[in-house]
Amino acid sequence: MLKTMDTAYETLKVASSQLQLTPKQINHRRGEFRVISAGISYGGGQKQPGNLVHSTWNTNVLRALVQHPSIKAIAKFQSHAFESWMPKLHATYSTLKKELLGWCSGLRSLFPGVFCATTFNMGPRTVCHKHVDYLNLWNGACAITAFGRFNFRKGGHIVLHGDAKLIIEFPHGRTVIIPSATVPHSNTGIAPHEARMSLTQYTAGGLFRFVAYGFRNKETCEQEDPELLEKLENTLEARVAEGISMFSSLAELKKYWKQKLAETKRKLAATTEDPDSTEDPDSTEDSDSD
Ligand SMILES: [Fe+2]
Repeated sequence: MLKTMDTAYETLKVASSQLQLTPKQINHRRGEFRVISAGISYGGGQKQPGNLVHSTWNTNVLRALVQHPSIKAIAKFQSHAFESWMPKLHATYSTLKKELLGWCSGLRSLFPGVFCATTFNMGPRTVCHKHVDYLNLWNGACAITAFGRFNFRKGGHIVLHGDAKLIIEFPHGRTVIIPSATVPHSNTGIAPHEARMSLTQYTAGGLFRFVAYGFRNKETCEQEDPELLEKLENTLEARVAEGISMFSSLAELKKYWKQKLAETKRKLAATTEDPDSTEDPDSTEDSDSD
């Protein structure tokens, strides 16, 4: 996997050298590093969910980037890592993405996992200021993979502020899944001669609200279905509790993976017994969109 990470880093460096970025994509609230996002988005004045739009030049660079095997492998790994630690949230994200893609055939998924959007932080020295990703789902999570040539014992740590109070070493090729809308986070600095990039996948919170409002914005929901809006507002407390319950305890994780393993074994046994079966025993594609 480390070879894949090395290749991904080199691929990101090439893409970064080709992308034509605006000043706002180089110096922004998260820091001073090159950044570009792609995928399905909703917010910032958009009337409905849509694909993030880029110039023809950047679209071609991004297309080549997201089709590169190393980048695809990392995107897939992130989605599976998300399922590993937050299976209930992962299922929610998976359902939402399927609903959105079913709602509009024009929406384009960058990767087959459960996340809707990706940000490529291309440095060359990606060091984030303390921030929260307030446009993400409030109880959601984002997956971040770090790349680069830096001494991870001295810099590039991920810092989780607030109640978490954690400073975690974050070496090249490693992935973290963090509740980025809730927990303020940042990176420690790296040396001037060092380089750091990252690939982050997430889903905008507005997409979840759009679907909850019946595939429309709040204003339209208020006009067309005021009862639904009232119901959503009256059940806010219960929905917050439900949102918090989306995180899993270790006991729940153990139970989830025990069941998943039993299910896989059952399928494998059924395939072995039925020589005509065309099911791929290695496939885990049936439970979600990964
Ligand atoms: Fe962030």
